[in-house]
Amino acid sequence: MATESTIRLSYPEADIALLTLDMPGKGANILSRPVLDELERVLDEVAGREDLAGLILISAKPGIFIAGADLREFVASMGAPASEVVALCRRGQTLFQRLSKTPFVTIAAIDGVCVGGGAELACWCDRRIMTSSPKTEIGFPEVKLGLFPGWGGTARAPRIVGLANAVEMITSGDSIDAAKAFQMGLASDVVQLDDLQAAAIRMVRSEQQTGLYLADREQWSGPVDISETEQGFLGITASAVIQQQTKGQYPAPMAALEVMMGAVSTDIDTACQMEAEGMSQLFGSPINAALLNVFFLTDRNKKDRGVDSDVEPLKVETAAVIGAGIMGQGIAAANVKRNVLVTLTDANRAALAKGVTSILEEVSFNRQLGKADVKRAVQLAPLLNATESDAELATADLIVEAVVENADVKRQIYARLEPKLKPTAILASNTSTIPITKLAEKLEHPERFCGIHFFNPVRKMKLVEVIRGEKTSDETVATAVAYAKHLGKSPIVVNDGPGFLVNRLLLPYMNEALELLAEGAEIKLLETVAKKFGMPMGPITLYDMVGLDTAFYAGRIMWEAYPDRIAASPILPALVKAGRLGQKSGVGFFSYQNKQGKAQPDPQVAQYIDPYKRGEPRKFDPAEVEMRLFLPMLLEATRILEEGIVRNVRDVDLGLIFGVGFPPFRGGLLFWADTLGAAKILELLKPFESLGPRMAPTELLKRMAAEGKKFYELNPA
Ligand code: NAI
Repeated sequence: MATESTIRLSYPEADIALLTLDMPGKGANILSRPVLDELERVLDEVAGREDLAGLILISAKPGIFIAGADLREFVASMGAPASEVVALCRRGQTLFQRLSKTPFVTIAAIDGVCVGGGAELACWCDRRIMTSSPKTEIGFPEVKLGLFPGWGGTARAPRIVGLANAVEMITSGDSIDAAKAFQMGLASDVVQLDDLQAAAIRMVRSEQQTGLYLADREQWSGPVDISETEQGFLGITASAVIQQQTKGQYPAPMAALEVMMGAVSTDIDTACQMEAEGMSQLFGSPINAALLNVFFLTDRNKKDRGVDSDVEPLKVETAAVIGAGIMGQGIAAANVKRNVLVTLTDANRAALAKGVTSILEEVSFNRQLGKADVKRAVQLAPLLNATESDAELATADLIVEAVVENADVKRQIYARLEPKLKPTAILASNTSTIPITKLAEKLEHPERFCGIHFFNPVRKMKLVEVIRGEKTSDETVATAVAYAKHLGKSPIVVNDGPGFLVNRLLLPYMNEALELLAEGAEIKLLETVAKKFGMPMGPITLYDMVGLDTAFYAGRIMWEAYPDRIAASPILPALVKAGRLGQKSGVGFFSYQNKQGKAQPDPQVAQYIDPYKRGEPRKFDPAEVEMRLFLPMLLEATRILEEGIVRNVRDVDLGLIFGVGFPPFRGGLLFWADTLGAAKILELLKPFESLGPRMAPTELLKRMAAEGKKFYELNPA
């Protein structure tokens, strides 16, 4: 079967070759092996032509130049020996390098996203022109996958933009826009999209006249232009920044820095060889595999419509939020930011007024000014309608209720409002614990009701759980998912149940921390072990952040649902009774009564823990504590799979990474479990048998161990 080609070669003018990338049947151009083969054939055809003045690389995809290499090929090569990885890198480098050795000028004409291998390809051209479109960006995100550029990016970028700029771009993995690229010399011009091709042709002509590109070719094939002192200083500061950001858990940025530093004084060919060898050390490592998994989880989530049927989501042009507290404010602000007209209400007039101010402050916050931008606030204000009238609320396409966590209060609101709603309107609750089916009991139209559970703080947290009650329709779920995505969130659909997904998984972990305290483990040890595992904070700090009263309440719901495996610790109520509610009250497990409001150990807390200590004092091994904290979470995840709470095992991992910051370098909870294997997990559980049902292997786990199966094999990718 003849495959359609990605690369078209045309001649807009007799001496100008135009190489257009247009991957058939795809929204983006990707540098897969077949595309590289094609590029090679096209370059064979034109690279030696003395009659050409220039070659322009351009994309036919709107908003995308090149999205990078084909990551599915990476996955397929995970087990490749280092020599093969070196060869793959060398192949790309040699191919792209031809663009810097042609008898004519080569120009990358970039509109839209130009990242990874695409940015490397562009860097091998003599010049880059970028459009001023807001979508246009260039960057090297490889470190986010546990790698660094391997097709000459680390060699070529420092020679074009200077070592400091290249180190920043490559070790951070963050893209820059056209203006910044122009400022650092990565782009030679910034133009409007409709002028892109013409501007590239003009640039070919002017370069031919000045011959400047030839001087640059000469210079960029040699060492990087930097003094030893500067280089030394840069090395020290950059490694300090990287160490602080990666906490030693992500090796790629440091490896990228080392390879760039090491290749400063060599010629470009040696720099490329060093890059390829460095890449081969990272490629296929467990961290690379885990981060690739996170990429695929995210990608899958973007494409997931939340339902298996082909029902279409309803349009949500106007939304309403009931309750102007912490969550209501965040949700309303998210609507305003995405241009969705939102009506906000609250039973308490002062709370409503305060809510409006906070929302406008949030949506108009200007980072450069460090405060709200009044002009912007005035511009956005018409998108927010504060009201005390049900009639105004009732006109919305979708209503999110975010009032106090009390089933009766919520149900009264629905009873009052439902008869007034549009016949297609969707009603949703932001409840964090109350079963959706229970809330829907008295509704006329339970099929148009679901949970849309945002996480706190809404502006920061990407995860949204869309909860399907027993009677929720596919159309409602699809609409809630599409709406959450429109607000910039990553929604996962979960079936109803205590704690839904994320809180249900978090609870056993947090509960175990209290058990460990009661057995005499030190707070500091629990915190260190969790952070070393990669959690953004320890469980005790998390208690203080969530609020001990809230945690107690949520814990009670879980305990009521699963009394056999959730131990009701007396420590929490003791602290709550003493008014130690965590960060919000200035003191919880830690004290926050200092200038920066930072957590400080508080010796006073012992009086609320010590009375509940049991057993002989003993030493705790960090490895034991790690298993005590994470195995209960994992066991709960297997129960969630047994009960069909999630549609795919991958949703568990995405939910935990986006919902609680489960370490991406472990690829997700179940991905991590798969690296251990079910049989090994059974072994790890053995020493904890005496702790009872909460540490007992589930049927699913036992079956998987017997069959030698992985969690990720339970559902298709
Ligand atoms: P909050 O206490 O900050 O705000 C609740 C607001 O609801 C208050 O302004 C109150 O005046 C208003 N309210 C009470 N009764 C009302 C009624 N009958 N009609 C209209 N307004 C009424 O509470 P928060 O934290 O914003 O929580 C709201 C909901 O979101 C709860 O269901 C909670 O479980 C859920 N949630 C909370 C999270 C959190 O971290 N705070 C995270 C995720 C969900």
